[in-house]
Amino acid sequence: MARILITSALPYINGIKHLGNLVGSQLPADLYARYQRQRGHEVMFICATDEHGTPAELAAAKTGEDVADYCKRMHAEQSKLAEGFRLSFDHYGRSSSQRNHQLTQHLAEKLAENGFIEEVTEKQVYSNADGRFLPDRYIEGTCPNCGYDGARGDQCENCTKQLDPTDLIEPRSAISGSTDLEVRETKHLYLKQTALKDDIDKWIDSQKGWPVLTTSIAKKWLHDGDGLQDRGITRDLKWGVPVTKGGEPWPGMEGKVFYVWFDAPIEYIAATAEWADDNGKTDADWERWWRTDKGADDVRYVQFMGKDNVPFHTLSFPATIMGSREPWKLVDYIKSFNYLNYDGGQFSTSKGRGVFMDQALDILPADYWRWWLLSHAPENSDSEFTWENFQASVNKDLADVLGNFVSRVTKFCRSKFTEVVPEGGAFGEQENALIADLTTRIRAYEGHMEAMDVRKAATELRAIWVAGNEYLQSAAPWSTFKEDPEQAAAQVRLALNLIRVYAVLSRPFIPDACATLMTAMQTADDSWPDDVAAALSALPTGHAFTVPDVTFRKISDEEREEWEAKFAGTRD
Ligand code: 2FM
Ligand code: ZN
Repeated sequence: MARILITSALPYINGIKHLGNLVGSQLPADLYARYQRQRGHEVMFICATDEHGTPAELAAAKTGEDVADYCKRMHAEQSKLAEGFRLSFDHYGRSSSQRNHQLTQHLAEKLAENGFIEEVTEKQVYSNADGRFLPDRYIEGTCPNCGYDGARGDQCENCTKQLDPTDLIEPRSAISGSTDLEVRETKHLYLKQTALKDDIDKWIDSQKGWPVLTTSIAKKWLHDGDGLQDRGITRDLKWGVPVTKGGEPWPGMEGKVFYVWFDAPIEYIAATAEWADDNGKTDADWERWWRTDKGADDVRYVQFMGKDNVPFHTLSFPATIMGSREPWKLVDYIKSFNYLNYDGGQFSTSKGRGVFMDQALDILPADYWRWWLLSHAPENSDSEFTWENFQASVNKDLADVLGNFVSRVTKFCRSKFTEVVPEGGAFGEQENALIADLTTRIRAYEGHMEAMDVRKAATELRAIWVAGNEYLQSAAPWSTFKEDPEQAAAQVRLALNLIRVYAVLSRPFIPDACATLMTAMQTADDSWPDDVAAALSALPTGHAFTVPDVTFRKISDEEREEWEAKFAGTRD
């Protein structure tokens, strides 16, 4: 049994996330966590809301709430949606937790002790129209690297380059649009990433088998152009982790907080500590996941994130960890994703374009979305959500292939043999051929799940469902029954057992439907089909079952059209 630590990129607290956010980290991380748990491994699956920074402050100002109250309310909302999508986090924390405050302050002190922090007098953009300093992402302008005119002060979305606000060409306030900006002097703490460049370089080089998307982005920012630079890790904001030293305000940094991208990844660790606090565990219980001096050497740590997050996870966060010179666990594998687009354009939170998590669950159960999103995950390139494709995928894969198999088999058995696994006959050539085919396919499925090849895993799973349908079609127990009821019994017995096998194999993708199938098959035996022949006899003759309600319903053309119009971009 292995120990696997899994983190998903932390969603920003402001606003409900759209399906593109969901498939870019949380959902595939959940797929992997569920799979590894099912295979008997010890899993710690962590996520949290990323609560600091200007976006949270501004969103709270908009609703007239105190920012702490706003974050509390939005965290509860996002938690509820995470549950709705069946995201099986062991803990869904908050980056504003006391644990994160303490750990962030601790790590900054360690970095300072080790000579990796420098005080820098910085020029910062002040907006006269807005009456405030404009931090990073609230300054927009043209990217000096690629020329994209919507680049933000912290990063260019187009070319992923990490930026400083003053790098932007023709900057403007993203709050008011005002170009009446001036540069004022203010002091900040800088993390000397340049001093850690060799360490990071060596570490990245030692990572074999990382996805190309991950390594290419990391290498690009390490070596190309101006490469890795020292970064300001404090901000002139009220909301955030206060900059302290020995529990007192850090001299010269009074009233400042740490930069949101400094404290957010630290929350991966802090959230695990929150998990311990909330579950009556000790520090040793969370430290065994994170401290290599306390058992975490045996842990395999996998992170899931969108491609825009890769530089922070391959460079900045490792720099924090390495610079602390404390034995914290570094990531072993980074699974990153491209973007999911929406119907010929981008998902847009500001324009309300696309489907958001709450809206999705209002119209269809989580499994429908989970299946489509995972089977179309933007792994090798950006992918696109269209209603037509969604309808086709649900109607074919889920309703026609999986759902129909279940309904035909259980109904046929009920009508000819009653609602128990029928007795008689034996598996013959056709059944053995199916077992051989399924064995190959299930082993391939395991390989893809292990490798986090989400789309390939979905394709293989669909093929496993199709194999059952094809068997049923050619065995045709409804015909066999007329001449040889014994043989028909054996065929139906196999098919009923296959429903249980499907429920076990498909659970990481569509957990609710699989739970319904297990209930219908009246079994708690969720053992993995290591031996397919044995798995297809797991439900013995005489075992009672019930015919489940429709497992997946079809999406009509009218619904598709209605939804297409509804989500075109009007959400307020
Ligand atoms: O891009 C985002 O949505 C960030 N909130 C991700 C943070 S991941 C981690 F480092 F906290
Ligand atoms: Zn750019």
